[in-house]
Amino acid sequence: MKKAFIKSYGCQMNVYDATRMADLLGREGFVETGAVEEADVVVLNTCHIREKAAEKVYSELGRLRVLKGERAEAGLDTTVVVAGCVAQAEGREILGRAPGVDVVVGPQSYHRLPDLLRRARTERVVDTDFPVEEKFDHLPPRRAAGTSAFLTVQEGCDKFCAFCVVPYTRGAEVSRPVAKLLAEADRLVAGGARELTLIGQNVNAYHGEGPDGAVWSLGRLLRHLAGLPGILRLRYTTSHPNDMDDDLIAAHRDSPAVMPYLHLPVQSGSDRILAAMNRRHDADAYRRLIDRVRAARPDIALSSDFIVGFPGETDADHAATLRLVADVGFASAFSFKYSPRPGTPAAESADAVPESVKSARLAELQELLERQRQGFNHATVGRTVDVLLEKPGRHPGQVAGKSPYLQAVQIEAGTDTIGTVVPVRITRAGSNSLFGELAGAAPAAAA
Ligand code: 5AD
Ligand code: SF4
Repeated sequence: MKKAFIKSYGCQMNVYDATRMADLLGREGFVETGAVEEADVVVLNTCHIREKAAEKVYSELGRLRVLKGERAEAGLDTTVVVAGCVAQAEGREILGRAPGVDVVVGPQSYHRLPDLLRRARTERVVDTDFPVEEKFDHLPPRRAAGTSAFLTVQEGCDKFCAFCVVPYTRGAEVSRPVAKLLAEADRLVAGGARELTLIGQNVNAYHGEGPDGAVWSLGRLLRHLAGLPGILRLRYTTSHPNDMDDDLIAAHRDSPAVMPYLHLPVQSGSDRILAAMNRRHDADAYRRLIDRVRAARPDIALSSDFIVGFPGETDADHAATLRLVADVGFASAFSFKYSPRPGTPAAESADAVPESVKSARLAELQELLERQRQGFNHATVGRTVDVLLEKPGRHPGQVAGKSPYLQAVQIEAGTDTIGTVVPVRITRAGSNSLFGELAGAAPAAAA
């Protein structure tokens, strides 16, 4: 039996793509292994968003080269594949920098992987096309995906924020047609999924062709999916503030299946920096938008991404970011030091912020965000919340799941509860999980 080892870096889209590559290799007779040393094919599904992420790939490729040599001495072939956004951004250069690599394949052409592997027997191959054929039409049907599954509804981005490689690595914004999404959703539900997270680089810009010939927005798509039997919960990520339309906000109010959680990156609280980032909205527009979202769904948990140390960022700009965080209040967040990326407009800027200043600002911001996160989690203690149970917990007799607000929750229960939503009284907040007990006797039906 041929074995494949697949490792993903970066965002949820890469996690999704990795499952689809696993499906594809499965059709070719490969079984997935978690042990890289026994793999005949090794796929690194890479991330190019910050320099650190991209550099990780090269150190991993160095280790793989040694492993490949050892396997060769034992008479075993190893094919090393670099997929994902580093593959797209660097293409053939990777072959020069990493001698052990056999295949370089971009995120829009990985459906050709079986053919590329065949060609790799005689030559090193690079495929970073944006092909005209639809990638998704050439992938095998989804296999069982667990209680919570990702569904790619949209790819690419037309926003061109000045710091971001995504419009170059993932290409222009493309929405998949509704009928194809419904077919994929059906399969996921048949395979046991109860929660779907709709993903896209700019998912709330979704504008797919509906079965009625009309263009469907993300709000309409969510409302339709919410009505399908078997689907208990819907989430979506990641969004741009300017694409947060009334219809989508209303879906949070009207559809109980649409979870009260919103990841809405703002990046900075300074109008000057937001303009330099080409975000096309100011800090008050973001505050007003959050007010509208909270008016529709008062208990919504908010999450965001922040970049500190964008070129030209002053202490006053940084203070404006801290003010915005204090005003809004986030349940969770991701924050990063600005990392100049080749080919992006901001990488050309001369007024770089010193590394030590970036570190100090990041620490200050993260301290505030962490206090807010802990505050949010502690506020859940004593409340009863619905938890979707997803997998066995850390200890025997425990089951782990998620609250509507995407908090990890552990309870004492049998594994037969997995896939159901149960009311849980939260008794304690740890640093990364909540702990609770079943409230009420019978679990809610899995539908
Ligand atoms: N430097 C630092 N962070 C970045 N992000 C995107 N590009 C960069 C960069 N060049 C962050 C943004 C984005 C998240 C996915 O990664 O905050 O929302
Ligand atoms: Fe990058 Fe997001 Fe801006 Fe698109 S909207 S360019 S993906 S940060």
